[in-house]
Amino acid sequence: MKVGVPKEIKTHEYRVGLTPGAVREYVAAGHSVLVETKAGAGIGATDDEYRKAGATILDSAREVFASSEMIIKVKEPQSSEWAQLRENQILFTYLHLAPDPEQAKALLTSGCTAIAYETVTDAHGGLPLLAPMSEVAGRLAIEAAGSALKRYAGGRGLLIGGVPGVQPARIVVIGGGVVGTHAARMAAGLGAEVTILDRSIRRLRELDELFEGRVRTRFSTIDAVEEEVFAADVVVGAVLVPGASAPKLVSRGMLSSMRKGSVIVDVAIDQGGCFETSRPTTHADPTYEVDGIIHYCVANIPGAVPLTSSQALNNATLPFGLALAKQGFAAVLEDPHLRAGLNVYRGRLTYRAVAESLGLPFLPIEQAAA
Ligand SMILES: NC(=O)c1ccc[n+]([C@@H]2O[C@H](COP(=O)([O-])OP(=O)(O)OC[C@H]3O[C@@H](n4cnc5c(N)ncnc54)[C@H](O)[C@@H]3O)[C@@H](O)[C@H]2O)c1
Repeated sequence: MKVGVPKEIKTHEYRVGLTPGAVREYVAAGHSVLVETKAGAGIGATDDEYRKAGATILDSAREVFASSEMIIKVKEPQSSEWAQLRENQILFTYLHLAPDPEQAKALLTSGCTAIAYETVTDAHGGLPLLAPMSEVAGRLAIEAAGSALKRYAGGRGLLIGGVPGVQPARIVVIGGGVVGTHAARMAAGLGAEVTILDRSIRRLRELDELFEGRVRTRFSTIDAVEEEVFAADVVVGAVLVPGASAPKLVSRGMLSSMRKGSVIVDVAIDQGGCFETSRPTTHADPTYEVDGIIHYCVANIPGAVPLTSSQALNNATLPFGLALAKQGFAAVLEDPHLRAGLNVYRGRLTYRAVAESLGLPFLPIEQAAA
């Protein structure tokens, strides 16, 4: 199959759909990979590295779209890319169609087959193409907290791990899923005193075993959240209620009982955030202060480390991408997890939740492909 990799054009997006390492895998499996010139610039990968991996470098996105049977990207296609998609072409990327009627209409009009990373599933009920970004965000949340705790940044002037004879920071993580686990791991590794709150007892049991006593676990009730937040130097918001906005677990009133210069990192901001006082920020201006508490609410945390993020994303997308390259659309029919990723098929919306959010007709793939 001819697989195309255009350069990402969304503002501040530096990741790339295929790294040179991933290109090598596709080429080894007998596919042709067409890469737009400078597509890897954001991760420091040159056209020459892509050539060495076996790719053909093309001068423009237009040529990549025109010559490829499958397009592999990172972010949802932007308006200038919509018109370049066509019937029978497979698009494999993050889409987030539910809140984006304009993009949905454009994909339907194009006639392409669009598979969304964020809805591909795995055998354990997880979202394997979303998880790597949660891993990155969870780990970076603690780095962000460490920076914000510094005195010149408005923080308490506290070193996360302390030093011998001096108390470390108390870090409370609300939500012990992928983000929360990786934040806790990083925080514990730095020597912080860490507590994870979750509503799932099963998850708390798993975390207890995983951390072998190095991290405290606590069932998340209103009382528990209050007690832990009031005593914390850092609170990481990492809750997710699938398909819903994040519950607001920390009110503005609670901030006055926290110590001045404490830090809130609301990773769940992309789902609306779990602190009443959260509002989305950017890497260019990541923090702001409310009632003496420093807030870090960057909505695309993994964008800060495109090299790590691209590699993590490629590791997760590779088996699915290779299956699509080998079998084409038949791979979607054969693999229920890839089928869960199918959002658009030749002018039809084939993902129920997306169709319902957009108020558009839904057609199961079995009928759409019949
Ligand atoms: N800002 C970013 O750049 C960025 C990057 C990646 C992920 N995220 C977001 O981070 C959030 C967490 O993602 P994840 O992959 O860890 O999700 P996940 O599903 O793995 O984990 C969520 C956890 O929250 C727990 N939870 C639900 N309600 C709770 C409550 N009231 N109190 C305590 N815990 C509760 C769940 O039991 C679950 O364990 C999501 O909103 C995700 O979109 C943001």
